[in-house]
Amino acid sequence: MRSNLIIAPSPSAIADAATLLRHGKLVAFPTETVYGLGADATNDKAVAAIYAAKGRPQFNPLIIHVADLAALDGLIIWNDTARLLAGQFWPGALTLVLPRQPHAPVSLLASAGLDTMAVRIPSHPVALQLLREVGRPIAAPSANASGKLSPTTPLHVAESLGDKVDLILAGGKTQIGVESTVLNLAAPRPTLLRPGGVTREQLEKLIGAIDVATGSDDTAPAAPGMLSAHYAPTLPLRMNADNAAPDEAFLTFGPDVFVKGGALRLNLSPEGALQEAAANLFAMLRQLDQPHLKGIAVMPIPHRDLGVAINDRLQRASVR
Ligand code: TXA
Ligand code: MG
Repeated sequence: MRSNLIIAPSPSAIADAATLLRHGKLVAFPTETVYGLGADATNDKAVAAIYAAKGRPQFNPLIIHVADLAALDGLIIWNDTARLLAGQFWPGALTLVLPRQPHAPVSLLASAGLDTMAVRIPSHPVALQLLREVGRPIAAPSANASGKLSPTTPLHVAESLGDKVDLILAGGKTQIGVESTVLNLAAPRPTLLRPGGVTREQLEKLIGAIDVATGSDDTAPAAPGMLSAHYAPTLPLRMNADNAAPDEAFLTFGPDVFVKGGALRLNLSPEGALQEAAANLFAMLRQLDQPHLKGIAVMPIPHRDLGVAINDRLQRASVR
C-alpha cells in the first residue's frame, strides 16, 4: 500500500481531494453508511474509471451525491413525495430514484443509460465538506470490488481498491454500517429497491404504504440494484444457524453462551441491538472470512428495523 494513500481529513486534505476529483481522479471518502468511491459525475471518463476500478457491470447505475438541495437543480425532476422525504431524511441514509432532467449534465454512464437518477445528500461531515468544495455532483458506489463486502473503515478500502484509488479520506468507522435505503419514486407507486439505513417503517410513517420490489433479477436494468449474489465474503455463508461446525466461523447476535461451535466467533451485538449489529456487520464478516475455514454460520437476526437491511445483505451473501 502507498504510504500516503489514507489521509486524515484536514481542510487541506479535503481541498486536495476536491482538486483530484475535478481532474477526473478517483477519491474514496467516508459517508455515514459505508465508504464511497467518488468521481466527478459530469466527467464520462472519470465515471468509466469507477466501473473499471470496481469491475462493476455497466448496467448497474451509480448514486449521485450532492451537498444540498440546490445542487440538484437541473439534475432530477422533483415530485411532492420526494420533497417530503428529502425534507425529513436528508442529509441521511436515503437514496431517491427520480426522473432525470433531459439535459442533466451528469454522465449517462452513471445512470447506466436509464432515464432515472439515484440521488442522495449524505450526512457525514467529511463527505459534505468534500461535496461543497468540489461543487459538482459526485458519483459514488461503495468503495469495494463489485460483489464484495462494502467498506466501513479506510483500511477496508485500501485492502480492496488500494492500487486503483488516488486518495482515501479517512473518517473513522462508519456509523450506520449498511448502505443507504434505495427508494424508487419514478415508479407509479414508491417502491423500495434496497432496504438500508432508513427503515421501511420510517418511510411509511411519512408517506404511507410503499411497494417492495420482489425477488431479484440479474439481467433487467429496471431493478439494477437487485443482483441476487452480492455483498459476499469469499467463504460460503449460511443464515439462521443455531450452532456452528468446528471448521466454521460463527457470527452471533445477542446472548450466545448457549449456542455451540465455531472455530472463530464474533458477536454482532451481545446486547442484541440492531444498530450496533449493522455497524459491525461488514467488518466482522471480513474478519471471519478466513481461508482455512469452510464457511460462516450466522445466528438469526430479528427481521425488523435495521434487521431487514442486515438480513437482505446476509441473504445476498449466501447466494452463490
Ligand atoms: O450508502 C450508500 O448508498 C453508498 C454510499 C457510498 O453512498 N453507496 C452505495 O452505492 O451503496 P452502490 O453503487 O454500491 O449501490 C447503489 C445502488 C445499486 O443497487 C444501484 O443499482 C441502485 O443504487 N441504483 C442506482 N441508480 C439507480 C437507478 N437509476 N434506478 C434504480 N436503482 C439505481
Ligand atoms: Mg455496493
